[in-house]
Amino acid sequence: MRGKRFVTRAGRPVAAVAVLTIGLVSPALAAPVGQPTLRQLGDGAGISIGSAVRDYAIQQDSRYAGLLGAQYGMATPENEMKWATVHPWPYVYNYGPADDIVSFAVAHHMQVRGHTLVWYQQNPTWLTNGAFNRSQLIAILKSHILNVVGHYRGKVSQWDVVNEAFDDHGHLRHDVWLDGIGPDYIAMAFRWAHQADPGAKLYYNDFGFEEGGAKADAIYSMVAGLRAQGVPIDGVGFQMHISDPDDFNSARLAGEMARFNRLGLAVAVTEMDVWLRPPGAGPMLDEEAGIFRGALADCRSAADCHTFVTWGFTDRYSWVSETSPPDGWALPFDSNYAPKPAVGAIEAALR
Ligand code: XIL
Repeated sequence: MRGKRFVTRAGRPVAAVAVLTIGLVSPALAAPVGQPTLRQLGDGAGISIGSAVRDYAIQQDSRYAGLLGAQYGMATPENEMKWATVHPWPYVYNYGPADDIVSFAVAHHMQVRGHTLVWYQQNPTWLTNGAFNRSQLIAILKSHILNVVGHYRGKVSQWDVVNEAFDDHGHLRHDVWLDGIGPDYIAMAFRWAHQADPGAKLYYNDFGFEEGGAKADAIYSMVAGLRAQGVPIDGVGFQMHISDPDDFNSARLAGEMARFNRLGLAVAVTEMDVWLRPPGAGPMLDEEAGIFRGALADCRSAADCHTFVTWGFTDRYSWVSETSPPDGWALPFDSNYAPKPAVGAIEAALR
């Protein structure tokens, strides 16, 4: 299909891909003719612009699918690759929902960020209530990672191998992995992920350390230790759930990105959203835009930051309003898919 050419009514040939993309999106949603998309601006700046993606929304909401496919160059399955969905029973893998997203991404020439292989949340009860001993848990984790990463080998460019291993005080969280295996589970997970897909870039991903502090220091020591031991880790993901917009400090974020880069690791913005309180309108939208712009500008000026992903793109589907009301209005497009000031700010940061 790629490279095949169609002819428009005016007789001009256009790439098939462009026809498909435009066909999916209503004129009001596409970038105005001649205007570059977020994705094109990102390509020009060397930054992949991405969004978390929900399978049911791509299937059921053509406006969602159209805007996503037209504007974004990277997709992170929001829940579909987590254990509870992808590995609901021992020896049973359920790849359907994540495969849908990966197929959509392939069809639209988007990259995929895999999320996530090891986490303390959204685990199936067979795993958390299984009373497994250490060697059983090691075998379970190993076969999960080899299976899932192997299934998507060559299709997922970055994996969040370990997610949120530290609490807010910088201590490793007590969960099935730490309590059952010990702190080595982290190095093991990276090694198995690398074994299953040597081409994928492997990330440690977490929130609430963007601006320094005990948690940032703990993450720094941990990833520095992994590097020193030769564990295959490529980067650190800054989730960037900005739950208190008044607190955002772009200079401190730049400082944290720089020190992780100095370890020889990439950094990425992996789950950004900016939580607004009611009414989520007026000057609040400009403040939100400024925060997106500041974070993206920091990524652009960092020595190694080439990924900028928001946790969804439309306020119609956002975990913020779903799980932390009355907060909401956290994403660049509103719930009717109109661009908010944040879209212009993202464009400006990429120009
Ligand atoms: C969230 C999803 O957005 C929700 O739909 C789900 O109910 C809970 O998980 N950090 C992460 C993400 O790494 O996986 C979380 O996603 C948001 C916080």
